[in-house]
Amino acid sequence: DWTMGAYRAEMVEKIKSQVGDKNVICALSGGVDSSVAAALLHEAIGDQLTCVFVDHGLLRKNEADEVVGMFRDHMNLQVIHADETELFLGELEGQSDPETKRKIIGKLFIDVFQKYADQIEGAEFLAQGTLYPDVIESVSFSGGPSVTIKSHHNVGGLPEKMGLKLVEPLRELFKDEVRALGHELGLPAHFIGRHPFPGPGLAIRCPGEITREKLEILREADAIYIDQIRKHGLYDDIWQAFVAILPVRTVGVMGDGRTYDYACALRAVTSVDGMTADYYPFSHEFLGETATRIINEVKGINRCTYDITSKPPGTIEWE
Ligand code: XMP
Repeated sequence: DWTMGAYRAEMVEKIKSQVGDKNVICALSGGVDSSVAAALLHEAIGDQLTCVFVDHGLLRKNEADEVVGMFRDHMNLQVIHADETELFLGELEGQSDPETKRKIIGKLFIDVFQKYADQIEGAEFLAQGTLYPDVIESVSFSGGPSVTIKSHHNVGGLPEKMGLKLVEPLRELFKDEVRALGHELGLPAHFIGRHPFPGPGLAIRCPGEITREKLEILREADAIYIDQIRKHGLYDDIWQAFVAILPVRTVGVMGDGRTYDYACALRAVTSVDGMTADYYPFSHEFLGETATRIINEVKGINRCTYDITSKPPGTIEWE
């Protein structure tokens, strides 16, 4: 008779015997997988676990504070908030090619994680929230075991490079089982039900060159959009929803004046695994109300469009 409670107890024992009295580091992304992995490890080995939250300055509004706050203050994990915004945005300055942007972010992510991990004494293990589907996928692609950090930062080979052994407590689980385990471990429901968020973050929702101004505008618009979706009770029906700030300014009128501000695109899709997707059929009423709020409340946006492209031929993200 298999229950999540029994699995939890079994995993705790396994982790204890694998890790012994050594220390473990974990890259916490705020995603469901790394969060559940961290919570489970913490239950097993307490303060032998240190999490590093790499903040690249490309996160949603309040994201860093919410994630670090929850794990540090409510769950008592040791969390390092590695705020490296200056480093990432500095290196991204003037870059507009999508793959170049991804590569810069991926490389810096490894450098930063390694820098902080090196400061943790006696760390012999790297924990990853690898799931069963990831194991299958990486085996079928590379013929070998999974060795990538589960944040799509393409950090393959990192454990060897750092001389670390892997702990992957979720390796036997599917996504819905990870959510059930997260619930069992006391993670809040709204946290377990969060939409996926890409490793490069807002960088790929800001087509072309990234500027601090655009990021700030994007964060505000995105927060209103997600607020609207939650208020209308639609969050759980949607696979992912976000705003993209377009690299174009358009003319508008506001009061007696003419405006010349950025246009934005709202995106929301349904999907099972992110491989294919359909745009979400919001009511016109919802779209109109949301556009009005964004244009009225966000300084710097004067036009709002809704992206009705499915995948394929589009992608979910804009870059
Ligand atoms: P696309 O845009 O390719 O997205 O249809 C499919 C899913 O993958 C996510 N995505 C990424 N995740 N690093 C990530 O960690 C990336 O570079 C990346 N690009 C896309 C996207 O959010 C969606 O869930």
